[in-house]
Amino acid sequence: MLFFLGTDLLLFTVFLAVLLLLLWSRSKHGTTHGAHRLPPGPTGLPLLGNVLELTSSAPHLKLSQLCQRYGPVCRLTLGSQLLVVLGSAEVIREALLKKAADFAGRPHTFTVDMMSFGGKDLALGDATAVWHQQRRATIAAMQAVGNERTEATVLAEAESLCALFHSYDGQPLDPSNDLSMHACNIICSLAFGTRYTKDDPEFQEIHECLDLLVQVWGSPAITILDHFPLLRKFPNPPWRKFLAAMAKRDEIVQRHIKAHKLKKEGETDITAALLYKLEEQKETEDGGDMMMEEHIHMAIVDLFIGGSETTATELAWTIAFLVHFPEVQERIHSEVMAALAHGQPPSYADRHAMPFLRATLKEVLRLRPVAPLAIPHRTMCNTSVGGYSIPKGTTVIPNLWGAHHDENTWPNPTHFKPERYMGHKSGEKPFLNSLPFSTGPRLCLGMALAHLELFLFSVCLFRDFRFIPAVPGHLPDLEGTMGAVLKPRPFQVRVLQRKSKAED
Ligand code: HEM
Repeated sequence: MLFFLGTDLLLFTVFLAVLLLLLWSRSKHGTTHGAHRLPPGPTGLPLLGNVLELTSSAPHLKLSQLCQRYGPVCRLTLGSQLLVVLGSAEVIREALLKKAADFAGRPHTFTVDMMSFGGKDLALGDATAVWHQQRRATIAAMQAVGNERTEATVLAEAESLCALFHSYDGQPLDPSNDLSMHACNIICSLAFGTRYTKDDPEFQEIHECLDLLVQVWGSPAITILDHFPLLRKFPNPPWRKFLAAMAKRDEIVQRHIKAHKLKKEGETDITAALLYKLEEQKETEDGGDMMMEEHIHMAIVDLFIGGSETTATELAWTIAFLVHFPEVQERIHSEVMAALAHGQPPSYADRHAMPFLRATLKEVLRLRPVAPLAIPHRTMCNTSVGGYSIPKGTTVIPNLWGAHHDENTWPNPTHFKPERYMGHKSGEKPFLNSLPFSTGPRLCLGMALAHLELFLFSVCLFRDFRFIPAVPGHLPDLEGTMGAVLKPRPFQVRVLQRKSKAED
């Protein structure tokens, strides 16, 4: 009896060892799926999968660690869903740019359906024929406003922020809220044709609503609802808060769409141009898939969500870094003053005379991309990347943070070093590997506007002010916190007015 027990134990131990070895090699070298090889990745919890990695408070860091361990293409699961993380610029470009059509989709989820009239969103909607029309119409509507008016709007807002900072008279302040209000007002001007004063109740309503949506979206309490449907039946205060903010959002956008329909003339803004496109399409299309008013509604929502907190946060990061590096601040100030030597107002054309400022903005975007994991993509067909098979319907996460901190691409990737871009052209290597706006058909739709805002706001701010810590030695935290965007933790600075040009 004892003998048999011993043999059984031995057999069981050998079986267990072989099983563990197989599991290890599966996770280390990739799994075969039919005749295909899936990317490698960590073994997840039974039923739950890799929920812990994905709901971490710093998922961009967690996923970058996984890419370091398993390689630039790695696999995770969430419930029954397969996820693939792309962790280097090379594989991101291969997937999103070279195999653009294969990777252009977005996952269909419960939360996206709930927030976008059943998936009619521009940023989160799947790559259907109607989505293509929606994206093209939105780009055309932004162009209809015209470069000149867009630039004048941004410059007016940058100068208005400077006037506000002057009025604080060197008192300690956290610049984040003022930056966000001014970025939001740019979208109000471009999208609705209305520029608000800071304390206009309607403006505060819009700003508070956006702030809430951005704060709650992406929180684990909401993300989890997409993967574990049973949880939708339980009380969920963040989700309830989110639904209330969405109702407010829709009421505001509807109010403006209605006012635009009644307005017969006036300057073109994005809402007017989108409504015009909708009418035009009704007359020309032959009854196939068509954009509806809800697509216009959601495109406007996305311009507000995408356009307010992102640029404002990137500017807050720029100030935070330059408080750490006063010598960079001084060099930028000198460059700006030399380019504007005749006292003329800045213009976007001046960027060619300010290569160091542009390099600094590029370096901040590399080190602290506000959307470090972009927006999840979805494969539209069976495809491959980095030599691994990726089945149709896989959720794909472009880990921009990982690509920007890849030691194989960037010498000393964590160092703040604007000089790394100097002497290179935009199509060349360091620029090519920096992807803060992602790439391919889902490339950030507001990239041109964001570049314009980052440039003109920085020129005005570093022309007029010196930013120093509010308390000597207390430097802003550079780690940040991750929500819908990667934000710096609240920090205080003193904004000191520089001497006038004549005294400089
Ligand atoms: C520093 C500023 C910004 C950064 C770093 C940024 C970054 C990004 C990233 C990484 C994506 C995801 C791309 C992908 O899924 O592969 C995205 C998408 C998007 N962004 Fe931005 N963004 C910024 C500013 C803006 C602005 C100013 C607007 C509009 C006014 C905007 C509107 C959008 C929209 C509509 C999408 C969805 C595009 C689509 O799915 O087709 N963004 N952005």
